Parts: sequence; C-alpha cells; structure tokens
Amino acid sequence: MAAFDTVIRNGTVATASDTYQADVAIKQGRIAAIGEAITDADEIVDASGLLVLPGGIDSHVHISQPSGPGIVMADDFESATRAAAFGGNTFVMPYCLQEKGQPLRAALKDYHALADKACYVDHSFHLIIADPTDAVLGQELPALVADGYSSLKIFMTYEGLALNDYEILGVLQVAREQGALVQIHAENYDAIRFLTDRLEREGKIAPYYHGKSRPIPVEREATHRAISLAELIDVPIVIVHVSNREAMEEIRRAQMRGLKIHGETCPQYLVLTEEDMQGLNMEGAKYVCSPPPRDHASQEACWEGLQQGVFSLFSSDHCPFRYDDEAGKLIPKGRTSFRWVPNGIPGVETRLPILFSEGVSKGRISLNQFVAFTATNHAKTYGLKGKGSIAIGYDADIALWDPNRTAKISQEGLHHGSDYTPYEGIEITGWPVATMLRGKFVVRDGKLVGEKGGGRYVARGKPGGMA
Ligand code: URP
Ligand code: ZN
Ligand code: ZN
Repeated sequence: MAAFDTVIRNGTVATASDTYQADVAIKQGRIAAIGEAITDADEIVDASGLLVLPGGIDSHVHISQPSGPGIVMADDFESATRAAAFGGNTFVMPYCLQEKGQPLRAALKDYHALADKACYVDHSFHLIIADPTDAVLGQELPALVADGYSSLKIFMTYEGLALNDYEILGVLQVAREQGALVQIHAENYDAIRFLTDRLEREGKIAPYYHGKSRPIPVEREATHRAISLAELIDVPIVIVHVSNREAMEEIRRAQMRGLKIHGETCPQYLVLTEEDMQGLNMEGAKYVCSPPPRDHASQEACWEGLQQGVFSLFSSDHCPFRYDDEAGKLIPKGRTSFRWVPNGIPGVETRLPILFSEGVSKGRISLNQFVAFTATNHAKTYGLKGKGSIAIGYDADIALWDPNRTAKISQEGLHHGSDYTPYEGIEITGWPVATMLRGKFVVRDGKLVGEKGGGRYVARGKPGGMA
C-alpha cells in the first residue's frame, strides 16, 4: 500500500508567508507531508510550472437569497459553488437571511435544505439579522454562535433590512458577549432615501443615477458611525465591500487607534467605475451594486488599502441576477427608477483571476499577499479551522495555478447562473487550472469532475482575535 493517496509534485507552494518548491502529499483528504522527492503515492500529479495555492475562500457571497417581489437570484447552491470551484475556490460563506419575524433557526433550516446536497465546495453561513428582537438577541443568537454560526451581517441601509443605531448597538453587545464577529454594510439609509427621492423628482431615473444616490459621503459617514458604535461596545467588526479612499481612511485611522476593525474590498472596486453604469437603455443595470463602483482614484485607494494591510479580506460580494430577465436586472419596475433595479453583480468565479492578474501579475501585491487576502485571512478572521493554508494537518483544499496562462474574461467561459459578467473583456494573466477539495479534484483540465453534494457544511469556531 502506498504511503499517500496523492502527491502533487514539483510545484511552487505559496502560503501567506512563504514561497518554495516542494511536493505536497495527501492522505485521507488532509495534507500529510510537505517535502522533496515524495513519490510513494497512489496518484502523482505533476505540477511543474504551476503554483500550488490554498483553495480560495470567499467569505462574502449571496446565493438563493430572497431579493424582493418578483426577483430571483441567478444562482442556486449548485451553480454558485460550481462556478466557485472553476474560479479556484474550495470554500464559500453565503448568507442566511432572516426575514422579519422569522426565527433564525427556521431561516437556517431553509438554507441548509437548499445547500446540503447541492454544493461542490465546502461552506458555512453568516446570519443576516433583519429583526433583532429580544428573543433573537437573548436566546437564538447565543445558541447559534455556540453551534458554529459565529458571524453575522447587519445593514445600515436597504428597505426592510436597515437597523437603527440602537438596534446596531444591541447586536454588537451580544456579539461581544458571545464571541461573534459582525459584518457591517455601511451606507446611510436616510441620506440614500433623500437623494433618491430628489433624483427621481428631477427625472434622473436611469441605472447610472444609482451611483449618484449613494455618493462617497454616504459610505464614509456610515463607516465612521459603525466604527464609533463598535468602539462604544469594544467589539471587533468587519466593514464589508469598501469602495473608496474616505471609507478606507476611516478604517485606517481606527486601526491606528488600536481598534479591531477589519476591512474588506471586492473586485468591482478595483476594475469597474461609475461610468460602467452609463450604458445605453438599461445596460447600466448590469453594474448596479452597493456601494457603487466609483472612479479611478477610488480604485487606487482600494489598492492602497490592500497594499498597506488596511483591508485584510478580498471577497467577491457575488450577488447574481440575470440581465435579460424580468426576474432579474430588467424587472419592469426598474425602468421607472434605478431604485428598483436589483442590487448586486456576479463575481465568485472571477474574483481570484482578477486579483491575481491585476495584483500579482502586474506587481501591485505579492503572491503571499494574494494568498492571505483570498484564503488565509478569511479562515483566520471567521474561525475556520484547518483551512486556508498549505500546512501539515490542514484539509487538502488546493488550487493549481498557471501564472502565465492568459485569458480574456467572457460570459461563454463562465459557469455561473447569470447571463452576463460585468468583467467581460478583461485580459487576465494567471488562471486556476485545477481545484481540489479535501484531496479530490473538483475541477481538472477545464472539466467539472467533483460531485454535486461533495461540498460539506462546516461549523466554525471563535473568530480570530475574539475572547
Ligand atoms: O449590491 C450588493 N452588494 N448586493 C449584495 C447585498 C450586499 O449589500 O452585500
Ligand atoms: Zn452589503
Ligand atoms: Zn453582499
């Protein structure tokens, strides 16, 4: 009998701290040895010329999430996790949305029923708290955090989701007591409503005005307020999907004052701008997401946030709708105002190639920073044990990358449920050529070879840095 099930030979291994030539040996789904000239394995995978990286962990994806009357998300758990695997990912953290009045366990039951036998990659859930009643905060949340649902998201905007400051403080207090990590969507709800009403009165209703209804001060103010509320409770938070310098600098200032504020940015803030929402007719709807893409100076600021470590997380905020579909971006009401265009864009498959190409290949970040931003930091931040690195005893969740392969992003080449990609035409250098989940290939030679339902739900422990 061979000593190992599989060995990945002659590749260049990269972790968040080191890059080196090594063979990686796998037994029973875990990394069992890292060394030179390991040959005693049932299967030898030649990785000459390839990078051996931890599978991507995308800690911000929306899948099968109810998004308003008549609107249907373009991905279910099968298609989203298939796309994730093609994009070099082995783990996703989608949201479980609590409807108003709904017990959290009832919401979780629904999401588990959709996900449990459908996923190609491993996964866990963040809870979206839309209704922080005494029962939710006093009993439901503490029990669920203990069960491994140790992170949640709250919103400072969106009809039906926005919490007021009193409610936010209540959630943060419970998070502190229970050791949960809170993600905050920081945009000022009343300011957006006011600006939206004014734009509509002026007849400015095209998708382009989505960006004008949520300008940078709307995000900066809410970011500052979220940080201040977290400071009052003395609890870490994550400011998600940061789009610009002013919000980034709020986070940097807080970090310099010693506050545990994590920052996340996303591909749309590195490669899209508000001009993309200018498209003729409703074409601009393809790019409507919140916060909106800004301008080139904001893109530079987001790069600076990554380079200087203000942002530790790079996620997709995959929130897919079809474009040419009345249950998607072309919902009839959307023609009467940008207010009704579904917010969100697909990106789970393109997140890693975009950061690799624009970041590593163009010399803006190192390969080790890439691994940290796309895998290791997600595992550490959200209490995911034994994943996110190439290390002995860790799950063999591995992506093999060809750093020299060039490709152009195109809808035809993608595997998600949307009928478009906002990243169409972007030239990429560096592409994931195979993805392995717990020692078994999910994607190999451009083909899906994994099993639907092969991805497992994983309960998480205490988020990094929490008592
Ligand atoms: O536009 C976006 N980002 N939609 C997804 C929901 C959210 O706020 O993350
Ligand atoms: Zn959000
Ligand atoms: Zn999101």
